[in-house]
Amino acid sequence: MNHLVVICHPRRKSFTQAIGRRYAEAVESLGHDVIIRDLYRLRFDPVLGEGELPDAERRRVPSAVRREQRHLAAAGAVAFFYPIWWAFMPAMMKGYIDRVLASGFAYDIKNDEIVPRLAGKKALIFTSSAADMADLRRSKQWRSMRLLEEDNMLSLCGIELLDHVHFASVVPGLPKRSVERHLAMAVAAVEKHWGNAPAAQG
Ligand SMILES: Cc1cc2nc3c(=O)[nH]c(=O)nc-3n(C[C@H](O)[C@H](O)[C@H](O)COP(=O)(O)O)c2cc1C
Repeated sequence: MNHLVVICHPRRKSFTQAIGRRYAEAVESLGHDVIIRDLYRLRFDPVLGEGELPDAERRRVPSAVRREQRHLAAAGAVAFFYPIWWAFMPAMMKGYIDRVLASGFAYDIKNDEIVPRLAGKKALIFTSSAADMADLRRSKQWRSMRLLEEDNMLSLCGIELLDHVHFASVVPGLPKRSVERHLAMAVAAVEKHWGNAPAAQG
């Protein structure tokens, strides 16, 4: 299967990057094909331009966006890796969603109804926060993350969310053994979801 790994973190040596790269290695070790899109290293522009609006007079999909759409179109599975910033995804990640999951590619609108165009694809989300789970729940951050990220964004395009793995209490100076435990969780997610999946599949 073709896997798309979308990593969103400005720092090359971050927890988020480490989890994303370990996930990609584990998927590859099962014989699957993986493409990593490291949005900051790609200098992906998250700002949606006027010409990209669905009702723009002369609608134009910029080549950088089209390139990401091609990667997504070719993938059977996509995994997103990002930290929680202000109870949501970083602007870079949101911009990728705004621009890449565009109408005409990810969904159509017909007779005022949304028609998904990416049905059959599977997704996983990996996030991290400084707050612990109790804090996330108490402050309703957890609920907002789930509502906005899981129940709407992906399903609207027909993408089935298989898992959302969240790493709480990720703070600077995290003990090495905690990092190792979290990395092992990423590998466990790969085994759980792709361990029995045939490698040669769209
Ligand atoms: C701009 C910014 C906003 C943040 N907002 C939150 C937040 O709302 N809730 C939270 O628990 N942590 C928040 N954090 C902490 C990050 O989620 C945490 O440091 C990150 O998940 C750790 O992973 P990393 O080392 O890959 O950055 C924020 C960090 C930054 C830089």
